[in-house]
Amino acid sequence: MTQHALIRRPRPRLLDLFSCAGGAAMGYHRAGFDVDGCDIAHRHAYPFAYHRGDALEYLAALIASGEIRRYAMVHASPPCQHGCALTVGTNRSQGWGGTHVDLVAPTRALLDRTGLPYVIEQPNGRAEIRKDLTLCGEQFGLGVIRHRNFELGGWTTEQPAHVPHRGRVRGWRHGAYFDGPYVAAYGNGGGKPSVPELQTAMGITWTDVREELTEAIPPAYAQWIGMAFLASAARLGVAA
Ligand SMILES: C[S@@+](CC[C@H](N)C(=O)[O-])C[C@H]1O[C@@H](n2cnc3c(N)ncnc32)[C@H](O)[C@@H]1O
Repeated sequence: MTQHALIRRPRPRLLDLFSCAGGAAMGYHRAGFDVDGCDIAHRHAYPFAYHRGDALEYLAALIASGEIRRYAMVHASPPCQHGCALTVGTNRSQGWGGTHVDLVAPTRALLDRTGLPYVIEQPNGRAEIRKDLTLCGEQFGLGVIRHRNFELGGWTTEQPAHVPHRGRVRGWRHGAYFDGPYVAAYGNGGGKPSVPELQTAMGITWTDVREELTEAIPPAYAQWIGMAFLASAARLGVAA
C-alpha cells in the first residue's frame, strides 16, 4: 500500500438544525458525514457534537462569522405542529395547533443565505415546503409508515418509487381496533407502541425518550439522502 493510500480524506461536515435526539443525524453519519447538531431543548442522547440554543440565531451567527463554510450541507427539521396533518385533524380539539410559530419560511430564508446545499424536512400534510422527495418507512423495511417530505435546496436527486404498504398501522382509530405490521410513532394511548417497539420500528437505539422517538425521522431516510447527495456531488465533480 502506498503512503498516499493511507492518508484519510476528511469526512464532509453536516449541520443538523432542530436536531432533537438525532434520528436524522445518525443517518447522515452513516452516509459518511461528520455531524453537528443544534436544538433548543436539552438532548442528552444526541450522539454527536451539539449546541443548545435557537437554531435560527445559531445559523445567523455561523453565517455572520463565516464559520458556516466548514459545512458541506445543512439539514433542518423545523417544528411541524403549526400545520402537520395530525394538528389540523383530530388532535386540534385536544389543544394542538394554532399556537406554534411557523419556522419553515425564516429557516429557508437563512439557508438560502448560506449558499450551501440543504434539506428541509416536514411531515405529510404540510403545504409550505416543496416536495422534492418523499420517503416512506416501507421503502426501508421499517415498522413505521411515517411519510416525510423533503425540500432540496441547491441540489436534486431522483424520487425513489413508493413501495406498497404491507398492511395497516396497528391501533385504535375512531372506536375500531386495527392490527397490522406498522406501529404509530406519534402520541400516546390507543394501542400505541411501547418504547422498545418504537425503537425497533424506527431503527433508533440511543434514546428511550418517547417524545424524541416520536419526533425523529428514521435514520434510514437521512442515510439515503446523505448517500444520494454525496453521489450527486461526485457525479458533478464537486467536493462535498
Ligand atoms: C421534529 S423535531 C426534529 C427531529 C430530528 N430531525 C430527528 O430526526 O430526530 C424538531 C425539534 O426542534 C426543536 N426546536 C423547536 N424550536 C426550536 C428552535 N427555535 N431552535 C432550535 N430547536 C428548536 C425541538 O426541541 C425538537 O427537538
